[in-house]
Amino acid sequence: MTDTAPAAGSPGGALAAAGLRLHIDGAVATITLARPERRNAMTGRTWTELARIGRTLPDTVRVVVVAGDGPSFSAGIDLAMFSPAGVEGERSLHSLVGAGPEQRAAFDAVIAEFQAGFTWLRRPDIVSVAAVRGHAIGAGFQLALACDLRVVAEDAAFCMKEAAFGLVPDLTGTKPLVDLVGLPRALELCLTARTVSAAEARELRLAEVVVPGAELDAAVSDLTAALLAVPADTASAVKALLSQAQGNTLEQQAGAERAAQIDRFNALAGAAVEGGPG
Ligand code: ACO
Repeated sequence: MTDTAPAAGSPGGALAAAGLRLHIDGAVATITLARPERRNAMTGRTWTELARIGRTLPDTVRVVVVAGDGPSFSAGIDLAMFSPAGVEGERSLHSLVGAGPEQRAAFDAVIAEFQAGFTWLRRPDIVSVAAVRGHAIGAGFQLALACDLRVVAEDAAFCMKEAAFGLVPDLTGTKPLVDLVGLPRALELCLTARTVSAAEARELRLAEVVVPGAELDAAVSDLTAALLAVPADTASAVKALLSQAQGNTLEQQAGAERAAQIDRFNALAGAAVEGGPG
């Protein structure tokens, strides 16, 4: 069992400065948004640190749970990032504004770094689970969407608020949102910035499981145990196969199934297949 210590200058110190905690227990890593006094508002450092967690995750980890301390999963971007000065110790977004190609490229690189904190949660070697209680607003909603599965408390409240600030959702949330709820509903949710309750989230397929708040941790543990009951390489193969289904034609997907199944049979047969029938 590993709990990162929040000593200054250590990885734990970097985590704490990013408003995060990381706890690794065998095959399960739990990332906790840990700024409840700010409703787990996130800054650029939160996202670059999330990306670092993804890069350095031990390969024994198979399930990654993303949760939040306190009453909210996350109130989204730290509103200080919208101020000209930005967040202390971090590059101000205002300093990146400019229409020239060099300025655009620099801004693009910064957003790409932020997005890397989200995209790794879809890697085939892990299954990621968002445990959402209370508000998941803007970047918080996108972080929940970045996970493969969402287990939510009855008080969960999702809101894609970016357009209300004159912005677009840019932390990789638009694709999973459209994939899950369809284009018309995604458009309605993003443009109205209205709040989606847990019950509606389940109807819209934004939540796999909805439970009373007191049962959230137990529901996540049960799901984690069930996910771990399947062998690791099988789980990766199934996730890789399902993940490409929407982008494939039926014929392409059938081919992908054949290729994956042949790999499975070969892996299961092991040395016997390698040695051949003779
Ligand atoms: N950034 C910085 N500080 C925040 C944020 C945020 N996004 N959200 C909350 N806080 C702070 C509040 O200012 C408050 O600080 P204070 O104690 O110094 O006054 C503290 O967190 C607690 O917030 P409350 O509003 O008192 O908490 P409450 O539980 O009543 O409401 C809620 C929670 C609904 C999340 C509310 O705080 C809120 O609407 N926050 C702003 C959400 C937002 O607009 N996010 C940006 C979305 S767009 C994007 O993410 C790209």
